[in-house]
Amino acid sequence: MKHIAIYITLLSIYLPSYSQSNSSIVPGKVWLDNNSVAINAHGGNVIFYKKKYYWYGEHKIEGKSEAQLADGGIHCYSSKDLMNWQDEGIVLPVIYTDTTSDLAYGCILERPKVLYDRKQQLFIAHFKYYPRGTGYLKGYIGVATSKKPNGTFTFKHKFLGANSEYGSGDFAMFKNTDNNAYHLTVRKPDKTFVIGKLQDDKMLPTTNYQVAKGITARTEAPAIILHNNQYFLIGSGSTGFLPNVARAFVANALDGTFTNLGNPCIGKNPHNGIGADTTFGAQINYILKVEGKTNAYIAMFDIWQPDMPIKAYTYGYHWYLKMVYHK
Ligand code: GAL
Repeated sequence: MKHIAIYITLLSIYLPSYSQSNSSIVPGKVWLDNNSVAINAHGGNVIFYKKKYYWYGEHKIEGKSEAQLADGGIHCYSSKDLMNWQDEGIVLPVIYTDTTSDLAYGCILERPKVLYDRKQQLFIAHFKYYPRGTGYLKGYIGVATSKKPNGTFTFKHKFLGANSEYGSGDFAMFKNTDNNAYHLTVRKPDKTFVIGKLQDDKMLPTTNYQVAKGITARTEAPAIILHNNQYFLIGSGSTGFLPNVARAFVANALDGTFTNLGNPCIGKNPHNGIGADTTFGAQINYILKVEGKTNAYIAMFDIWQPDMPIKAYTYGYHWYLKMVYHK
């Protein structure tokens, strides 16, 4: 049997540039957008559409996010080269003027993941959603859609996934090769990791959730890729915003048995001196495939600053994911 190792190391990444100012991705440094403002998109994901990457994430506002609420909604940036990012603005805003709105200030909107559904020609955002005033007990998935990648998205509805009346926590939304989308998530309240298929239009789940065999309970922040016909999933443990040791798993099928690959991180973060035993002080949010390159992936992380989330960008959050195969 082939032994598989998956490593995350801190590297500067040099990609072909389209002449703008950044000529590399420097992990652990403040990353400025086209207006020289630090990129503000946390817990999110990146998609590729019509020759451009779109990066979506939680927007933090100075002085507000301290209470873990959603303050700015979903922020979007676009890029042709993954190094230079243009601010596309807030594509799903939090509403400050109407307390009855679904997205009224006071709701929690976390870890947005946007996917494109070719059939409907629709961009669909899923995010952890707790309506205003309801706390963390029942974890909904909020759903918003847009005809364009840079919004504006319209809030459609919420659902409780994982076949649980308490819903689910951190999640990945994975579009498989058959164009079906799968909701991989930690079920509430027991923190078992489950995988369920969404309905064809990707707006609601089916009832077909199964316990993910081999994935340790309390796995949060899941990020998944399909690489050489194998599904690699990296996640964190369950300690809120505090960093812990990352965990990696691999399986031949989503409903197969996952093999535990242990901690995929190696080395030290030169910018804060924090090592692999606490994921360099960070938590994974997504793994993105670099278009046009073979076996090139970038694992994206947040170094959270729960006392002052706007500062979360200060240390940057991007690492290069190395897939290493041994015969
Ligand atoms: C993390 C999660 C974040 C946020 C935080 C709250 O594990 O990834 O999105 O929910 O817990 O403590």
